[in-house]
Amino acid sequence: MATTNSIIRDPSLAPEGKLKIDWAQAHMPVLNRIREEFERELPFKGLKVAISLHLEAKTAYLAKVIQAGGAQVAITGSNPLSTQDDVCAALAEDGITVFAKYNPTAEEYHDLLVKTVETKPDLIIDDGGDLVTILHTERQDLLATIRGGAEETTTGILRLKAMEKDGSLKFPMVAVNDAYCKHLFDNRYGTGQSVWDGINRTTNLVVAGKTVVVSGYGWCGKGVAMRAKGLGANVVVTEVDAIKAVEAYMDGFAVMPMDEAAKVGDFFVAVTGNKDVIRGTHFENMKDGAILSNAGHFDVEVNLVELAAMAVSKRTVRRNIEEYALKDGRRVYVLAEGRLVNLAAGDGHPAEIMDMTFALQALALRYANENYQSLGAKVINVPYELDEQVARTKLSAMGVAIDTLSGEQKAYLDSWTAH
Ligand code: ADE
Repeated sequence: MATTNSIIRDPSLAPEGKLKIDWAQAHMPVLNRIREEFERELPFKGLKVAISLHLEAKTAYLAKVIQAGGAQVAITGSNPLSTQDDVCAALAEDGITVFAKYNPTAEEYHDLLVKTVETKPDLIIDDGGDLVTILHTERQDLLATIRGGAEETTTGILRLKAMEKDGSLKFPMVAVNDAYCKHLFDNRYGTGQSVWDGINRTTNLVVAGKTVVVSGYGWCGKGVAMRAKGLGANVVVTEVDAIKAVEAYMDGFAVMPMDEAAKVGDFFVAVTGNKDVIRGTHFENMKDGAILSNAGHFDVEVNLVELAAMAVSKRTVRRNIEEYALKDGRRVYVLAEGRLVNLAAGDGHPAEIMDMTFALQALALRYANENYQSLGAKVINVPYELDEQVARTKLSAMGVAIDTLSGEQKAYLDSWTAH
């Protein structure tokens, strides 16, 4: 049943979108099991759920799972370049209200987010905090119905914690990013693989023997650096956190300030969550042909305003690659307009990884709905049992068995006198 109120680019793309969603679904066994449970138990019966996530095939399947749990679902993107129009068309055909298009203007992007909250949801899923921000600023009139929600990413959780601290947060938000089965796998192995997938398919250049500068050694940075090493690169890490810098050094990477790294890098990946990580003074010292990309949530890590001001010309040299020619003849290349390279120039993390992340999203949303009255307007951790449930289901889907503690072993661990 198609929804008539969706705003999408082209409904005729639905068959291609459906194939993509089917492929993702076939590789998401944990989420499949949750869908079966939701179909039986209808935990969201009669409720409205609004979602803002990178709107590609795996996300679409999550939306369908929430719908299978009885919810009326409205969905929008969480980055103007990560929305896939064929996936939107397929979802709209399946009765989900979709407010999303690839590459909308900034104004359109904002309007689509507002339209999504205007569906008056009971529950939300957010990635980077766009829905939460709109609900707490320009559309506070829509706060009344909200029971709670779940947030996907590091950046969003930082913002939620700032809101909680100054007393602005008005409903509980479950911090999905902080669950083990999210950041250990999605941030590390997901980002590690999808960033290189995005860079490789966009540039079609060799990585082996080149110098890759990774800024930020959080879970995402660790994954990007690890996979760069696997591709044969010399890896340099830049950090502001002393402990993470020691970790990067002992993991075998060169560590240096960006002022130095700027001179040696062939590829740069900024993944800090902060702004201006690569900026004017750095562009001045880069090699001709340096390739810059961002894997942090917002497009603020590479200062493109400064780069544009320094450039004598700018042109698109290949899909998702812009060349900035500098006065002295050097050229610096920026991938995907400095937006998330893995999603704006790729399809995001692999399906088997998003399987765990989105299983947690589905379970976290159910948890928020069942407990919102006692949770309070706070940032809530995913209960450990849900994390463990996802890990156990994943192990079983992968055909991997593990050991169990004997009674004696448990007693030994619980005691401080046993030998
Ligand atoms: N696909 C959907 N959401 C994603 C995310 N947050 N990161 C990577 N791939 C995704």
